[in-house]
Amino acid sequence: MKLKMFILFSVLSLLFAGCAREKHDISFNVGGAPAEISVWQEVVREFTDTTGIRVKINIQPTDSDLRRQGLVLPLAAKRAEPDVFLMDIAWIGQFAASGWLAPVEISDKARAAFFRGVIETADTYDNRLIGLPVYIDGGLLYYRKDIVKKPPDSWEELVRICVENGRQGENPCFVWQGAQYEGLVCNFLEFALANGGGIIIEGNRADINTAENREALRFMAGLIHKHKVSPPDTYTSMREEESRIAFEESGALFQRNWPYAWGIYSQEGSPVKGKTGIAPLPGFKGKKGASTLGGWHIGISAFSKNKEAALRLVEHITSYDVQKRFAIKMGWNPGREDVYDDKDVLEASPHFKQLKEVFVNASARPNVPYYTRLSSVLQKHLNAALMMKTGAEEALEAAEKEINAIIREYEK
Ligand code: GLC
Repeated sequence: MKLKMFILFSVLSLLFAGCAREKHDISFNVGGAPAEISVWQEVVREFTDTTGIRVKINIQPTDSDLRRQGLVLPLAAKRAEPDVFLMDIAWIGQFAASGWLAPVEISDKARAAFFRGVIETADTYDNRLIGLPVYIDGGLLYYRKDIVKKPPDSWEELVRICVENGRQGENPCFVWQGAQYEGLVCNFLEFALANGGGIIIEGNRADINTAENREALRFMAGLIHKHKVSPPDTYTSMREEESRIAFEESGALFQRNWPYAWGIYSQEGSPVKGKTGIAPLPGFKGKKGASTLGGWHIGISAFSKNKEAALRLVEHITSYDVQKRFAIKMGWNPGREDVYDDKDVLEASPHFKQLKEVFVNASARPNVPYYTRLSSVLQKHLNAALMMKTGAEEALEAAEKEINAIIREYEK
């Protein structure tokens, strides 16, 4: 027995010694596609080499909702870790209102490098800066420029091109994000806006079950069930990475995704390298297309015990050089405005200039502190309509009712 206890203690002390060796000064939660994680690791390694500040990276998934859950638990419990994290633009409002974000204290000169409109609307709370944009997202249309000579002007034309090319049923033509998660709300907003609708919250009331929105949602379901140009797994599994891979591997002609896919398609070995074009998302016939504003911002936990070191990491990640590298290696639209004029950046991503309008005019999701609750209601009903479990009208009516109940509860 004694011997067993001795062995157990020896093993435990070895384990503790191991942990002590891995001591860190701050921890950083970051997620993304596998190719992106390796760039993050490289950037953090350099930071430690130059500053001596040791950073523990906690790798999170790509899915925005899962990343949020991974942060809400420690923050709601006021835990000291993680010190620094990336936040989806969709949840900054709620994080700030919950008191989870420390001010990001940088000089006015440093602040001037970032898009003013973005930091004023998304990163300012109670007149204080509580985050900085690492990259700005907007929905884009990727197309196979070796097959489709000109991107479609309307959603109807996109369907026509698919049918003409015999890409229906077993041969998916258009991939987008229809799984039950945040990305579905972004896709829906784009179809709805492109049809003159949207997610409107005014005077404490949500207006969602409108004729324009119903038509847009019917069209989305029709892509799968009527025209059969989008695969049935659109509503079961299509998130960003699934669509990005399907476009690379299935021969699909079109894809709706964020700018990051460009970075991956530009890498050696990608089967669609040199064959991919990017265009703004189309509108419905005679109407203008629209793009949802997305993007990830960096923040410091209000409960961090090492805010000084945390701020230095934030400064490093948002520095000109690192932002330039992100733009070139990952195709991300930088949060800093000054990087857009960089010659090397424009060479790697010429669409930054051509599609500037898309990003300047991208439409934000409702900036309300209960946004995540609103979104999960929408996700559930939109997904049921894509599955044809319910009709578009029934889905939007139910969503509107539940969202209005949330608003009333919130207003109490
Ligand atoms: C991207 C966007 C983010 C959005 C998410 C949805 O990561 O940057 O804003 O919420 O996609 O899946």
